[in-house]
Amino acid sequence: MIFVLDFGGQYNQLITRRIREFGVYSELRSHKLTAEEIRKLEPKGIILSGGPHSVTDEHSFRCDEEIFQLGIPVLGICYGMQLMAKSFGGKVEKSDNREYGKATIEIKDDAALYRNSPSTQTVWMSHGDKITEVPSGFQVDATSSSTPIAAMSNEERKLFGVQYHPEVKHTEFGNDLLKQFVFDICSCTGNWTMENFIEQQVKEIREKVGNRKVLCALSGGVDSSVVAALIHKAIGNQLTCIFVDHGLLRKNEADEVMKVFAEDFHMNVIKVDARERFLSKLKGVDDPEKKRKIIGNEFIYVFDDEAAKLKDIDFLAQGTLYTDVIESGTDTAQTIKSHHNVGGLPEDMQFELIEPLKTLFKDEVRELGTQLGIPDYIVWRQPFPGPGLAIRVLGEVTEEKLAIVRESDWILREEIAAAGLDKEIWQYFTVLPNIRSVGVMGDQRTYDYTIGIRAVTSIDGMTSDWARIPWDVLEKISTRIVNEVPHVNRVVYDITSKPPATIEWE
Ligand code: XMP
Repeated sequence: MIFVLDFGGQYNQLITRRIREFGVYSELRSHKLTAEEIRKLEPKGIILSGGPHSVTDEHSFRCDEEIFQLGIPVLGICYGMQLMAKSFGGKVEKSDNREYGKATIEIKDDAALYRNSPSTQTVWMSHGDKITEVPSGFQVDATSSSTPIAAMSNEERKLFGVQYHPEVKHTEFGNDLLKQFVFDICSCTGNWTMENFIEQQVKEIREKVGNRKVLCALSGGVDSSVVAALIHKAIGNQLTCIFVDHGLLRKNEADEVMKVFAEDFHMNVIKVDARERFLSKLKGVDDPEKKRKIIGNEFIYVFDDEAAKLKDIDFLAQGTLYTDVIESGTDTAQTIKSHHNVGGLPEDMQFELIEPLKTLFKDEVRELGTQLGIPDYIVWRQPFPGPGLAIRVLGEVTEEKLAIVRESDWILREEIAAAGLDKEIWQYFTVLPNIRSVGVMGDQRTYDYTIGIRAVTSIDGMTSDWARIPWDVLEKISTRIVNEVPHVNRVVYDITSKPPATIEWE
């Protein structure tokens, strides 16, 4: 295992991911971890990440300097390297000018970190301060024209530093450098695979749960599906899933979830048909925020009602991911979010949490889902909001309007898949704005609804751009929607990015 100590740099998760891609387990941990804690956890190597601060500032992030005495190899990246240099008495100078972008470095012949890579390399720099004097006992391993100390090491003590970012793709031999550190210097073996992960988790879940029972809220989304399948593999029908059909799901979705989990996986799934309950609560409500609140609260009431009927449940399974854990705090300046995958629990019920995905990134969860035999259309499912189609019917939600969105969304999904764009476009759906307009169909005047198509590319949903869907694909979607969905006579394409718009229309 390799620990990446987090000093708040933007590429920190990437370092962890790169190392996992080598088949070596890695975790991003707080820079506040003490040397004593690290010693007990026995990582094979430590990486000190980059960060936005200056080591010359008194209040910048520090680490326990004793970690350099543990005999565990340490690689400092950017800020991490400067921190190492400062700890050992080197000179770090503040600079107002950032060096940002590509640079060429020349490697010294005997540099241990570069034994398997060329002597001239293109790297990616992103730093303000720089080291102007290496500490005694260290040697300069690489130089560039603007950064004379681009890498340094004290091989005997297994301490290394690079000023640039080996984890980003623009650094030509970045992976070679990380591999050299992880395999050659830290002696990792690279046997961390999804099969091993499943085996280990199954063992841990069995040990933790014993003969007790686990409850899981199954939504049909990637995370809850994978959690349920993994726990089911470990403890079979000691797991009960509650699947709430609130009537705001996409076409066939409820049936698909039941088919996969109840029929194919033989899981114990309680399907709660709460369609009436949700629709009646939404009657006459047209304010988006009120709609969201009603749905969120109702979901909790339904879940609680069902959970209360079950006896002897000790654990609640949640699909918390590693990104949630990291965002909730590794003690850097990042914004802190609190995560609630399942809102409220019955007050008199005391569940212990079980979160077997909490060390995985989203793409690893997908890989795990595939290994567990979950079909592609669930594993690769696009994000779908909790309030479902209710926030895609603008204004008051009615059965008739839900049917229009559901049918048009189905056509859109079929055509996007047929065009082979389903993995490329991050999210795509239709919305029903609360407007009608005039059209003509078969010589008859129509006065009917408009459907809006929303399709975006994004990394995390925080920002997005509208997807450049080929015109012939859009044409086909539009033709099919007006022909096949009753009460629609016009289709428009939303060409707004986020910001200023949001992805959903409500
Ligand atoms: P917006 O519309 O805020 O959406 O740009 C960003 C991403 O979040 C999803 N979304 C939600 N997901 N509950 C959810 O679980 C919600 O209430 C919710 N609202 C928006 C949206 O689909 C997009 O992927």
